[in-house]
Amino acid sequence: MPFPQTRMRRLRATRALRGLIRETEISAADLIYPMFVAHGLDRREPIEAMPGVDRLSIAHAVEEVGELAALGIPAVLLFGIPASKDAEGSGAWDDEGIVQLATRAIKEAHPDTIVIADLCLCEYTDHGHCGVLRDVSDGQLTVDNDATLELLARTAISQARAGADLIAPSDMMDGRVGAIRQALDEDGLTDTPILSYSAKFASAFYGPFREAAGSTPSFGDRRGYQMDPANGAEAVRESKLDVDEGADMLMVKPALPYLDVIRRVKDETGMPLAAYNVSGEYAMVKAAVAAGYLDERATVLEALTGIRRAGADVIITYHAKDAARWLQ
Ligand code: PBG
Repeated sequence: MPFPQTRMRRLRATRALRGLIRETEISAADLIYPMFVAHGLDRREPIEAMPGVDRLSIAHAVEEVGELAALGIPAVLLFGIPASKDAEGSGAWDDEGIVQLATRAIKEAHPDTIVIADLCLCEYTDHGHCGVLRDVSDGQLTVDNDATLELLARTAISQARAGADLIAPSDMMDGRVGAIRQALDEDGLTDTPILSYSAKFASAFYGPFREAAGSTPSFGDRRGYQMDPANGAEAVRESKLDVDEGADMLMVKPALPYLDVIRRVKDETGMPLAAYNVSGEYAMVKAAVAAGYLDERATVLEALTGIRRAGADVIITYHAKDAARWLQ
């Protein structure tokens, strides 16, 4: 043995030694569980590409939050599936809308659970885009950034009034964090923080989510407002802009193909940072596990550890319940 002082194996020899020098910990307290709550549903409705995740009625969502709390998971991220959709996405800012009703019911039953309201129009528009459309020339439609800001601000107020603890805009319109902050402040909701989806990439990994939420765009794609997966410096720039506009917390999404972006955004902003381990990342693991190719527990815990090691303070993940059980 020529270089005995470099023998790292000495510190890996036992579980106790490995634990002593471990750099990254994950715990249920770092996890956020996303939930799909559907209007007018009276049962659990499985989502085919996401085994173990269901569309829920409000009553089932309340029940599920009880299970999450018992597992030590502190927060949920709510997505709403409305009864009907229209061109503007008016279900988003309806005070009796699905996210507003679910938020009230969850906060009443479980006041200590943090309810994060996802804020976007794509689940509520009949065309599936994240904002309202404008005809730029001869029937060629584009998402109207500034007209959308006003609708997002209205939605944020409605969600915060319903009791949401955090507002999480996922639409990627320019200037939306500032517009939402201003609207919340003017409404006296100065203490409601904003978790901005600051670096959200135009990703193929959202496929199962769009099936779950029925939010696949009816034409075109989201590349006009979501980010190019090739751009890391731009992700840092976008994140800093959101900080300037008043974001309290930032997010990188998806997580696993963007670990370098998580690290850069964390280092260059110093802000509390969430990473979203999205539906396609979940579906991949589930499919490989079902085929017998991967060990689920080891795979999931390794992936979540990697996301934390990259610099995420919290992880939004559909694996949250299983992970919390394994970590107990
Ligand atoms: C809405 C939104 C999406 C996701 C979260 N919020 C889909 C999209 O942008 O198309 C995806 C989450 C996931 O895949 O788990 N804008």
